[in-house]
Amino acid sequence: MIGQEALTQLEMAGDYPDIVIGCTGGGSNFAGIAFPFLGAKLRGEGEIKIIAVEPAACPSLTRGKYAYDFGDTAQLTPLTKMHTLGSGFVPEGIHAGGLRYHGMAPLVSHIVNLGLVETRAEYQLGCFAAGLTFARAEGILPAPEANHAVKAAIDEALRCKESGVSKSILFNLCGHGHFDMQAYIDYQAGKLVDTEYSAAEVAMALAGLPVVD
Ligand SMILES: Cc1ncc(COP(=O)(O)O)c(C=O)c1O
Repeated sequence: MIGQEALTQLEMAGDYPDIVIGCTGGGSNFAGIAFPFLGAKLRGEGEIKIIAVEPAACPSLTRGKYAYDFGDTAQLTPLTKMHTLGSGFVPEGIHAGGLRYHGMAPLVSHIVNLGLVETRAEYQLGCFAAGLTFARAEGILPAPEANHAVKAAIDEALRCKESGVSKSILFNLCGHGHFDMQAYIDYQAGKLVDTEYSAAEVAMALAGLPVVD
């Protein structure tokens, strides 16, 4: 829905994005912003780059396996084909709690598997820095989850600045950070750290993937 609204608003503004960006936890806000533009791209109505950004501490799209898995840790859901780190994977306690999900929506997984989307994993310190830059410039404090999209948007804008190419960048500011003040305070006090996900832990969780014939 939000992508359809964005399409209409951009039409009113006489613009069209060159790049569309969303953060990915389970995939809903990313799909919301990106799918209408992807549909247009597949119909040959506009060439764009679509970027999905996830936390380095829970990298299901960039480091997970495309396999059948449970959508929940209790293993009660039907099996679904998705990018997964294994339903037993427990990510580090990063502040972007909404992105700490082991799997990914099947449709988002499918388009990533088809190579229609670029994927990126970002560390939380870089994301908080981007969120603060955005807050100072726009007066809006993003949620730690949204900071992943903000980071990619700023990186793309800086790339444009370096290359001297002007591009329209659309990203989903999927939530405010009004309930995440402590996270910002801790970030500014230097108390946050970047956590590398444990490859051994993922290997263990993936070893528990259900066997599907
Ligand atoms: C602000 C915010 N953004 C993003 C997400 C991630 O969910 P999804 O990837 O399904 O949009 C959450 C989840 O709780 C959230 O709270």
